[in-house]
Amino acid sequence: MSDVLELVDVSVVRDGRALVDDVSWSVKEGERWVILGPNGAGKTTLLNIASSYVFPSTGTARVLGERLGGVGTDVFELRPRIGIAGVAMADKLPKRQTVLQTVLTAAYGMTATWHENYEAVDEERARAFLDRLGMTEFLDRKFGTLSEGERKRTLIARAMMTDPELLLLDEPAAGLDLGGREDLVRRLGRLARDPYAPSMIMVTHHVEEIAPGFTHVLMIRQGKVLAAGPMETELSSRNLSLCFGLPLVVEHTGDRYTAHGLPLSP
Ligand SMILES: Nc1ncnc2c1ncn2[C@@H]1O[C@H](COP(=O)(O)OP(=O)(O)O)[C@@H](O)[C@H]1O
Ligand SMILES: [Mg+2]
Repeated sequence: MSDVLELVDVSVVRDGRALVDDVSWSVKEGERWVILGPNGAGKTTLLNIASSYVFPSTGTARVLGERLGGVGTDVFELRPRIGIAGVAMADKLPKRQTVLQTVLTAAYGMTATWHENYEAVDEERARAFLDRLGMTEFLDRKFGTLSEGERKRTLIARAMMTDPELLLLDEPAAGLDLGGREDLVRRLGRLARDPYAPSMIMVTHHVEEIAPGFTHVLMIRQGKVLAAGPMETELSSRNLSLCFGLPLVVEHTGDRYTAHGLPLSP
């Protein structure tokens, strides 16, 4: 299998500080990765490399076979091959476009506005992705009036529109209530288990948000990778405790994970 993402000794330095510190990591085709780590650990910076918006200060990064900063690599050809759903994207989208328009415009460039001559086939695709994410009853709602959960589901449908080879999700469940989170986890689980779905990387702070079907985990703290590999072996109490800097117990029940701290000793 070919590498979807390959980082070798990558650091990203800003103001003399390494936000990502000497990271080597590879994602193979079809794998579904979770990036776990505390606030400020460098998770979004890693996703920004994967989406080709941030280049390494040192080391080499290849995304879908193209070396970032390499001769012959055109990021404007690379970016349409990558789907991104994150908070930063939500802020750039016109609030007055409908949900259907918001998803449909993805097929015609980043935040393009609505015009009437979209292809029927694109509209069918947009409707199908929205349906998969449970958004059929919101097709005509203005994007700006959606709840947090509805907005996140719209963004994921939008990210799928260009038929990406790599799908990046930055904290897709952040800010959702329990029902909203469970609904999203179920839908992401379906996507993760779909053999035709793209390779996926999802950032989260919470093991409860890991959907069934995610295969690998990378844990990062202060820009450094603490663990990276198959979920079953790497998502251990020991690794999670090191990652978040306090004693934690992780439990695996059915196809889901939970974590909690240890009670203080008397
Ligand atoms: N462009 C930048 N210049 C300087 N510092 C930055 C920049 N972007 C992010 N940071 C800092 O780098 C650290 C890692 O950020 P980020 O990757 O967003 O963390 P995470 O997503 O894990 O919360 C944070 O301390 C953040 O404040
Ligand atoms: Mg972040």
